[in-house]
Amino acid sequence: MPGCSRAQLHYADGMCGIVGYTGRQRAVDVVVDGLKRLEYRGYDSAGVAIVADGKLDAQKRAGKLTNLTEALKAQATSADGAVFEAGTTGIGHTRWATHGAPNDLNAHPHLSEDGSIALIHNGIIENFAQLRGALERDGVFFASETDTETAAHLLAREYANAPEGQDRLSEAMRRVCRQLEGAFTLLAVHRDEPQTVVGARRNSPLVVGRGEGENFLASDVAAFIAHTREAVELGQDQVVRISPTDIVVTNFDGTPAQTREFHIDWDASAAEKDGYDYFMLKEIAEQPRAIADTLRGRLTGTGEVVLDDVHLTPAQLREIDKVFVIACGTAYHSGLVAKYAIEHWTRIPVEVELASEFRYRDPVLGPKTLCIAVSQSGETMDTIMALRHAKEQNAPVLAICNTIGSTIPRESDAVLYTRAGPEVAVASTKAFLTQIVAAYLVGLYLAQVRGVKFGDEVSAVVRELEEIPAAVQQVIEVSEPVREIAQRLKDDKQILFLGRHVGYPVALEGALKLKELAYMHAEGFAAGELKHGPISLIEEGSPVVVTVPSPKGRSVLHDKMVSNIQEVRARGAKMIIIAEEGDDVVEEYADELIRVPHVPTLLAPLVTTVPLQVLACEIASARGHDVDQPRNLAKSVTVE
Ligand code: F6R
Repeated sequence: MPGCSRAQLHYADGMCGIVGYTGRQRAVDVVVDGLKRLEYRGYDSAGVAIVADGKLDAQKRAGKLTNLTEALKAQATSADGAVFEAGTTGIGHTRWATHGAPNDLNAHPHLSEDGSIALIHNGIIENFAQLRGALERDGVFFASETDTETAAHLLAREYANAPEGQDRLSEAMRRVCRQLEGAFTLLAVHRDEPQTVVGARRNSPLVVGRGEGENFLASDVAAFIAHTREAVELGQDQVVRISPTDIVVTNFDGTPAQTREFHIDWDASAAEKDGYDYFMLKEIAEQPRAIADTLRGRLTGTGEVVLDDVHLTPAQLREIDKVFVIACGTAYHSGLVAKYAIEHWTRIPVEVELASEFRYRDPVLGPKTLCIAVSQSGETMDTIMALRHAKEQNAPVLAICNTIGSTIPRESDAVLYTRAGPEVAVASTKAFLTQIVAAYLVGLYLAQVRGVKFGDEVSAVVRELEEIPAAVQQVIEVSEPVREIAQRLKDDKQILFLGRHVGYPVALEGALKLKELAYMHAEGFAAGELKHGPISLIEEGSPVVVTVPSPKGRSVLHDKMVSNIQEVRARGAKMIIIAEEGDDVVEEYADELIRVPHVPTLLAPLVTTVPLQVLACEIASARGHDVDQPRNLAKSVTVE
């Protein structure tokens, strides 16, 4: 393989899935199986390295994991497969490239010059150019263009200088980490240490799985859940060494580290497709259960909401005079929905901010500003940086998160976990609905602590929320017409989404789902805003999807929406209308009509989003796209 000069482009890796294993099973099987469960994190390339009998062997391929598994199959029948056949220790990587084109050369693992060390990496080593320059001046040959390879060569150098003994690879890793800047998870194996995998963590996810006579390392518990449900959470700036029987964690300075053990309360079947064509369809179908689980046990007999882990006193919460919700993408949309409810219930002003923008505009923050960080993965770097900024300004942070032990809840002052279970499809569905539910619970909690809602009022809302799983189930069961509509829309070039009030963020979410899965131009608009510009997008036959507010209760919203429907229809739009059962007024304007059951106004997004999820999934599928792994995306965005 040709070497590369420093002037050439370098490729770093953003999210990536990583797995490490040592035990008694054939490591390649365990590692590849783990990678399959992590492929949602990145699918630009994949690779494995296995150690056995003083030898180390690696295989890597650009493209999806199947390219690697094909190569491994071919190798199994040749003499080259000996190490893979015998090895019970190994590491594996599935890559989401942040810069530049992915190829075999830049795929992980990266090896030291003498091939004794294999290393994989998730994150970005910011000072890699400097380190690489120094290594090259010392005559080290680089085979790839990655920042990761720098760490592999540094590790080889430090290993040579580290004292012999079972801690040697960990000590070398600690020495390397002290030289690195940026965000990284690193895993490494050495050919002379056939029962050791060493990992390091700074700002990127890494969790340990504790088995019997075997141990695991992975960026997500999904990778080892088929083998063990006992896990160990790692903190920042820690190095871990696993052998089949031991897990030893130290800080980067070599001192013993504090860790926390936890039990994973879902099993391997939760991360399987279970007969569905796509994870996304399975996860849509799981939404009633996910909402019910997120609500379970969260209300005491006296109507008090219980959060998971709160290091904020009621006195502190009574002082809050402003709430910021910080999040990205779909999680941001859940915040936009929650704003309506939290303001309504607490009378505290709520601002919802894209995490990537938050800290750059110097927001006004202080001890009386509650920041709610919403994240499915708990590892989204934009959100992590926004929450750190909030904490630096002494603002308390409350996390709404789906991943126990991830960075966002760990660094927050209070946590409410969504109990959606593992979300594997890149497009978020069940996480979204449970984020709304959790944010509503936080709103009720605040209202209660501040004395603006009595226990019976809180209980009444929670009872309404408890009715939602059945309503969502009903929508899912009658989604056949949505599939048929998807067939009719699949060749359109653009679809617009309209909503009012809480239906506005639903329109944004419907458009985001369609963009990311169907690669179609889609925009969500507040219906009243259309006539201020976007209505010029409407042509004869342009599809427009509208969620219509309930005619009951706030009928003024309903009536306004009906006139917006007439406005666009008059310009020739094809109307796809999502309306409550019994709302007869809209029938005459609908080219396609999707019915949903009646629920209270603030809870409507929990129901009306569901047909939009199905619509995006079915249009993408009809266009022949990979629904679970849309192009250019990864599930967990661990770079800014
Ligand atoms: C869209 C989607 C993304 C995520 C966003 C935040 O379907 O999944 O927009 O919502 O990347 O991710 P988390 O919630 O993990 O912080």
